[in-house]
Amino acid sequence: MRYTKTPLAVSLLALVWLPVSAMAQDPAEAGRALLQQACASCHAIGKTGESPRTGAPPLRGLSRSYDLDQFPRRLQAGLVSGHPDMPEFKFNEADAHAAGVYLRSIQE
Ligand code: HEC
Repeated sequence: MRYTKTPLAVSLLALVWLPVSAMAQDPAEAGRALLQQACASCHAIGKTGESPRTGAPPLRGLSRSYDLDQFPRRLQAGLVSGHPDMPEFKFNEADAHAAGVYLRSIQE
């Protein structure tokens, strides 16, 4: 019985996963998952690898152009960097923090 109940609980959690994930998990892991969902279609989000989208810089180089202490605040305010075809992102506080922790962990 426990085995059949667990997947249901997991899928219910998934419905509210944005706020829950960043608080419940290790922040770096939650941040990785968020960026995987929101950014990885264009940007490389790992420590290695090329960006899928030409011209989108790998996020591991972010600290060269941005102050990573400020970056989570930008994610919360709504990330706009002149991306031509990028949807606007607004992260809640916990998610912005998690993304910041992860981004810090991959900087080269
Ligand atoms: C649809 C593709 C796409 C998505 C999705 C996307 N980006 Fe970008 N991003 C780009 C492109 C292309 C550029 C480079 C050209 C530009 O700045 O407009 C860029 C540039 C950037 C820059 C500026 C880099 C620099 O060194 O100046 C930042 C910061 C950035 N993206 C962050 C993000 C983050 C964080 C996410 C996820 C929340 C994200 N992007 C999602 C396409 C995308």
